[in-house]
Amino acid sequence: MSSEVKRITILKFRAMKAAGEKITMLTAYDHAMAGLLDAVGVEGILVGDSMSMVVQGHPNTLPVTLDEMIYHAEMVGRAVHHALVVVDLPFPSYHLGKYRAVESAGRILKETRCQAVKLEGGTAQAEVIEALVSAGIPVMAHCGLRPQSVHQLGGYKVQRNEDQLLADAQAAQAAGAFAVVLECIPADVAARLTEQLEIPTIGIGAGAGCDGQILVTNDLLGLTSGYVPRFVKAYADIKTVITGAVTSFREDVRSGKFPAPDQSFK
Ligand code: KIV
Repeated sequence: MSSEVKRITILKFRAMKAAGEKITMLTAYDHAMAGLLDAVGVEGILVGDSMSMVVQGHPNTLPVTLDEMIYHAEMVGRAVHHALVVVDLPFPSYHLGKYRAVESAGRILKETRCQAVKLEGGTAQAEVIEALVSAGIPVMAHCGLRPQSVHQLGGYKVQRNEDQLLADAQAAQAAGAFAVVLECIPADVAARLTEQLEIPTIGIGAGAGCDGQILVTNDLLGLTSGYVPRFVKAYADIKTVITGAVTSFREDVRSGKFPAPDQSFK
């Protein structure tokens, strides 16, 4: 990247869709990882509530709080100079009425220097999206599998009701959302939605026909323990790298090889 960093905006997301350029997004929860992703040039970084699972070790995304999201988003916001940084509104920070939603999202923008928020829902959240956008807060919607509704949906299942999906995505667009994440929906349905929408679709488990793709960075790096969804492609095996390095360190400590003279002071 050149030393003069041009910030990605929500307008750039629109322009990329219009130009047929694919948008790349990944999640980050801390300063170091956010800086690495930004230096590669991804267009969007999401401080996802997936943090509840991959950082905090909870079984779903419900426990993470607004204060915890803000704590991590502030680190990410300080590290990123190029990508658009989107922060998840955690459950139930936007379910208690539009005023509470503006208060929650307003705190995120004021306290983290990030530029946008994401919330789950389309038709059901149209009024909230409108209120946020009227307050000058860019909103990314999230339709299809909505992990915050896992109990209502009966599990992490592929969502196949095309009429409902289209109605949700169109409601989000009409309310002013600048983009929509489509999670876990059939590839042909996602491709049709993408054609019908003016705003970019960012897919996760939604096939190659979306305008962009997002993955949880821990999944992409092979850092996730336990169940890994079918839509994940691990591009590295960092868990094995870490295990190997820590094993070598422990062996060196036990055998007296570490620290060597190079790592010691005279
Ligand atoms: O929380 C998250 O990481 C997300 C992505 C998986 C889209 O919402």
